[in-house]
Amino acid sequence: MVLLTGGSGFVGKRVLERLLATGYSVRVLSRRKPKLPADLPAGRVEFFDGDVTASDSVAHAAAGASAVIHLVGIIRETGTQTFRQVHVEGTRSVVAAAKLAGVSRFIHMSALGTRESAPSTYHRSKWEAEQIVMGSGLDYTIFRPSLIYGRGDGFLRLFGAMMRPPMSSLMLGCVPCPGGFEGSKFQPVAVGDAAKIFVRALSAAGSIGKIYDLCCPEKLTMWQMLSALAAAEQVQPTVLRCGMDTLPFQLAWHILFSEKPIFFNMPIYAMRAAAFAAEKMGVPVPLNRDTVQMLSEGSEGDCTPATRDFGVEFTPFAEGVHELYQR
Ligand SMILES: NC(=O)c1ccc[n+]([C@@H]2O[C@H](COP(=O)([O-])OP(=O)(O)OC[C@H]3O[C@@H](n4cnc5c(N)ncnc54)[C@H](OP(=O)(O)O)[C@@H]3O)[C@@H](O)[C@H]2O)c1
Repeated sequence: MVLLTGGSGFVGKRVLERLLATGYSVRVLSRRKPKLPADLPAGRVEFFDGDVTASDSVAHAAAGASAVIHLVGIIRETGTQTFRQVHVEGTRSVVAAAKLAGVSRFIHMSALGTRESAPSTYHRSKWEAEQIVMGSGLDYTIFRPSLIYGRGDGFLRLFGAMMRPPMSSLMLGCVPCPGGFEGSKFQPVAVGDAAKIFVRALSAAGSIGKIYDLCCPEKLTMWQMLSALAAAEQVQPTVLRCGMDTLPFQLAWHILFSEKPIFFNMPIYAMRAAAFAAEKMGVPVPLNRDTVQMLSEGSEGDCTPATRDFGVEFTPFAEGVHELYQR
């Protein structure tokens, strides 16, 4: 039986499906019961209402488990859900519960860019969580994914939504390209590939004690990802490659006279300023300063060890992006 934390999330649901399809019994720990397909094998999945920051509930959930897949994570802080509470203290309590329950195998979700001196709080807290896992004495494997995308993803799907009604009308047809046309690079990984690797890791003894980057071989800018997204949406945008000095005039002209979506360069400094202003005014925005920082860094890694050790060929982005629109 595998204890899966974060099984109600975007990645967690796919890991859960994969675990069940592979024959595992799963106990899902989350604060809310996920909406899942009705055809899940009854008797092999149970839901456990719990919060990783409350060590009692985690200890209860871990009893009887032989492995843990720890996915819980947040991308922005809200109220008591801080990076320290969820990533650091949450991991500490899941690790403690795993040891108490005599669990041997521990698969941990981190992120590319995780390092001690990272400018973003998200990455620094993920680094602290990794240290807890590595010092636990458990048979751990740590994964550091680049951007994960696919069915149910909130980030790339947002850009797809901007290209079609009703959101395109609200945005007057404008689609910002964060970081501009040249910006930093990403190696996006399809959520199905990530789920397959997490589940294979459970039985891959050779992966014990290792940290793997999870990323496809292609290195893509946000602009290249948005272009692939536009192709999947069958949208042919107008692309404004002008500088910030003429951008307002160009945008105004195209908003008035063009029927097509308008892709324009949104430099990182402008996004930082917008995120800062929104935070000061208490306005919730999809990208805060921490996420803008991570976007500015990109996330590149080495896919060779994961490809070799888990026998997974990563899905090319232009192919995988179609899954964003599946229900
Ligand atoms: N998506 C990406 O591109 C990406 C890239 C690199 C790494 N990651 C990492 O992958 C993991 C999963 O990401 P995701 O995109 O699937 O995020 P998500 O959809 O937001 O899912 C997060 C999960 O964590 C759970 N959770 C949050 N706080 C909790 C708490 N205090 N106690 C118990 N459960 C809690 C949520 O459950 P509730 O139902 O209780 O809220 C949910 O199941 C995270 O660790 C993230 O940092 C994601």
